[in-house]
Amino acid sequence: MVQAPDVYICETAPRDGLQNLDVFVPTEAKCALIDAIAAAGVPEIDAGSFVPPKVVPQFADVDAVMAHALTHKTTTIGSLVPNPKGAERAIAAGVNVVYFVISASETHNRANVRRSIEEQLEGFRAVRAAIDARPPDQQPQLMGAISTAFGCSMEGEVSAAAVCRLARAFAEARADEIGLADTVGYATPKLIRQIVDAVRREVGSQMTLRLHLHDTLGAGLANAVAGLEAGIRRFDAAVSGLGGCPFAPGARGNIVTEDLVFMLERMGLSTGIDLDRLMQTREILARHIPARHLTGHLHEAGIPKALRRAA
Ligand code: COA
Ligand code: ZN
Repeated sequence: MVQAPDVYICETAPRDGLQNLDVFVPTEAKCALIDAIAAAGVPEIDAGSFVPPKVVPQFADVDAVMAHALTHKTTTIGSLVPNPKGAERAIAAGVNVVYFVISASETHNRANVRRSIEEQLEGFRAVRAAIDARPPDQQPQLMGAISTAFGCSMEGEVSAAAVCRLARAFAEARADEIGLADTVGYATPKLIRQIVDAVRREVGSQMTLRLHLHDTLGAGLANAVAGLEAGIRRFDAAVSGLGGCPFAPGARGNIVTEDLVFMLERMGLSTGIDLDRLMQTREILARHIPARHLTGHLHEAGIPKALRRAA
């Protein structure tokens, strides 16, 4: 049996990484990217969004991409959904996890999904009921994803109370997991500790929490370490640091998966990910995405020979 990694990483380049690009990445390339990520041993992939193509044209081919992603039977395949209609499509596609997004900031929530937070929560409860009505072996996991949990480019600071209120509502509506997203990348290590601790007190220690971090202001990996110290063992990250929210002006890429894996492994925390294979995703991306979108310390510095572990 494969041993569970110390830190569980979800690769979000195929979804968060592509949603804000002005170039359409061909379906074959999206599938090749997913194949390369799965081959590197990443346990979970956020493979796309079930949104109307007129809102995010990048995901016009999400049905085909998802069908391909789901051929990877040992990788958990997830999908972001903005509403019950998106969840219905995701469930019909057979995804393993549905990430249902609600922002802690009312302004961002309205910009993102054109609903109030309360209306959005009603949508979440409807999705929970729809999943519960299915046969047990056909029920995906349901994550409540809290956007702008550490700040909002429109409202500025977001209070811990607002994040906790939403986390409690997700828990009461029986989310299987709660995601805390620094959508715009304003978090600091101190804020990560404060919000994670507050949410943990609010929803209890049995609820799985996940962090989704953006590196807009250079604090991304420091924030990940703060999350680790606060007990978080699940992180989203994107290869080559792709990412950004189309409805959060100024947001930059996600924390770089390659850099995160390298740092964690050097800290003695296993991820189950083959870093050399993960680095190969750059070639696939570089064929379709302008170089200015592709970042990463390890890609620039190379893996120092002296730090390579003996095979
Ligand atoms: N997938 C496909 N079609 C959908 C859909 C979905 N998830 N949700 C709604 N639609 C369709 C409706 O059926 C309707 O079709 P019609 O015009 O043929 O009747 C049309 O889209 C409008 O539906 P409505 O419920 O009024 O949507 P809206 O215009 O209020 O937009 C969202 C709401 C949530 C669909 C939109 O704001 C959205 O997609 N937001 C996501 C943004 C995002 O991806 N952000 C980044 C990730 S956090
Ligand atoms: Zn994001």
